[in-house]
Amino acid sequence: MKRTLGVCYYPEHWPEETWAKDAAAMVAAGLTWVRIGEFAWSRLEPTSGTFDFGWLDRAIATLGNAGLKIILGTPSATPPRWMLDRFPDMLAVDADGHPRRFGSRRHYCHSHRGYRDAARDMATTLGKRYGRDPRIHAWQIDNEYGCHETTLSYSAAARDAFRDWLAQHYQSIDALNRAWGNVFWSMEYADFDDIDLPNQTVTQSNPSHELAFRRFASDQVVQWNAAQVAALRPLTDAPLIHNYMGREMGFDHHAVARDLDIASWDSYPIGFLSDRLEGDAAHKARYLQQGDPDMQAFHHDLYRGLNNGRWWVMEQQPGPVNWAPYNPAPLPGMVRLWSWEAFAHGAEVVSYFRWRQAPFAQEQMHAGLRRPDDAAAPGLAEAQQVATEIAQMPDVAQAQAPVALLFDYPSAWSWEVLPQGADFSYFRLMFETYRALRCQGLSIDILPASTTDLSGYKLILAPGLATLPIGLAAALSTSKAVCLLGPRTGLVTPDLTIPLPLGPALPGLDTTVTRVESLPPGTSRPVQGGGALRHWVETLEGTSPVQLSCESGGPVLVGGKSLHYLAGWPDPDLWSRVLALLAKQVDLPLTPLPEGLRLRSTASHLFAFNYAPEPIEWHGETLEPAGVGWWPL
Ligand code: GAL
Repeated sequence: MKRTLGVCYYPEHWPEETWAKDAAAMVAAGLTWVRIGEFAWSRLEPTSGTFDFGWLDRAIATLGNAGLKIILGTPSATPPRWMLDRFPDMLAVDADGHPRRFGSRRHYCHSHRGYRDAARDMATTLGKRYGRDPRIHAWQIDNEYGCHETTLSYSAAARDAFRDWLAQHYQSIDALNRAWGNVFWSMEYADFDDIDLPNQTVTQSNPSHELAFRRFASDQVVQWNAAQVAALRPLTDAPLIHNYMGREMGFDHHAVARDLDIASWDSYPIGFLSDRLEGDAAHKARYLQQGDPDMQAFHHDLYRGLNNGRWWVMEQQPGPVNWAPYNPAPLPGMVRLWSWEAFAHGAEVVSYFRWRQAPFAQEQMHAGLRRPDDAAAPGLAEAQQVATEIAQMPDVAQAQAPVALLFDYPSAWSWEVLPQGADFSYFRLMFETYRALRCQGLSIDILPASTTDLSGYKLILAPGLATLPIGLAAALSTSKAVCLLGPRTGLVTPDLTIPLPLGPALPGLDTTVTRVESLPPGTSRPVQGGGALRHWVETLEGTSPVQLSCESGGPVLVGGKSLHYLAGWPDPDLWSRVLALLAKQVDLPLTPLPEGLRLRSTASHLFAFNYAPEPIEWHGETLEPAGVGWWPL
């Protein structure tokens, strides 16, 4: 698959006379794709039932005639103002009961059937007009599900749909009462219609109730997306795509992806570092203009696992953004580095957001490839450089990584609902695990926890997996890999209650978690020989061989040949020890890397990326800050 570049463009923001010049400049810059349309509903249907496709026809003609491949977005993330006259109750409602009003975007509740149907009908209208248009090479459905915390809605529509969902899921109210333990605090219900959404309660609501609501809300996103997929499928052969976000855990991306053809995500490395990641001040200062060295790769690998390896970067940060608390510019070279890192992880397309900075509205301070006065912004030259390099570089195919990390969105909801420690975050645990692996130079596949074929991996990790999916134990035991479960793996039922007998109940491992503790920041439990547990510590009982112990006694790592259980959340030193121990068992070579250097192996090349603010010597070469190197394997 040939790698290509693209850009996000909003013809409705610019005088029509500029479109042809813009299109020619995009082609001259080496761009292949242009994404349009995803927020243009007020121009496509200015009043209810009155359509204006003239401008879009002309924009498609101009861009297409210039030789660009078009990605057409459905505009359902931005319902126009008149839609509220039609459906006054379509707005999402926040947990305090306030409607989330018109005046920005994503102002809709996924459970509102009227608006869902209107969005579907718009997709049908667009599909009929452009579905067979040879200039439309892909579709984007909606924009960034979950963005601005829009997965959960406490509206009347959501409440009614939740009651239906519960009735289907539990079949009888007695079954629900039993599954949730509603005898506690006299919370028993006589009828599904008695059940409200779990907000505005006096104190914590029942975690089983909250988890059910999270599962329901995720299903609503899946169904919302599926409605537009159903509208477009018969009308086009072009791939259907959604652009996911970074660290968005509100809905099950694996479930949404089942209806789509290609996964994509929006990568804003510098914004994410300050806005979306833990990390001390020194780490954030060191990577201020590069972004965290693992955040992008983590999502590349996560989203590569969604649609059998087919994935894109739909939006790539090209300069300073506007939405983080502070918005520094990328170090020179970083736009190129981020682009190549995406390609090394298998991206088919990297598309920059956006062509030209808009001089108006919410994102007027957000850089594009061009400035508001149309002069080239610094990101443009780097995009052009990548385009030139792509043309010179042979295609690199992806290879199965030696390590698999199993990822599960419902586990994130379980631990969010029942954290037990204020800073326990499933994402953070997964991310730190991933970072520990990457610091040893490893390439990683991130797979759904429901994966049944795990053959070919040397090392498989599933920390924090709330409930073991049926079939996982069998898949692990037939995989021939060394497997690491824990901490907090297999410790609750799917209804978020404690299983009896106690977990993790792993065939072939005699270990039981009999007590858990959470530790506040700044405290830890030292481990004999070096490293420590922090955030989370489990007490294990059983006869499985102990590999590592706490200084105060008590097992930290147990296991024999293949299956291991880790009784806490390791700090980086302990991670290195644990990984060294496991890797040795399967002859997996580890390469401890200089701080800020990261590697990625493809089928034919080894890539190296220098996120550090200082030069790094590697493979006999000096990689400057923001430097990228590649060598045939
Ligand atoms: C994304 C979004 C874009 C734009 C961009 C700014 O989250 O999809 O529409 O808002 O952020 O960085």
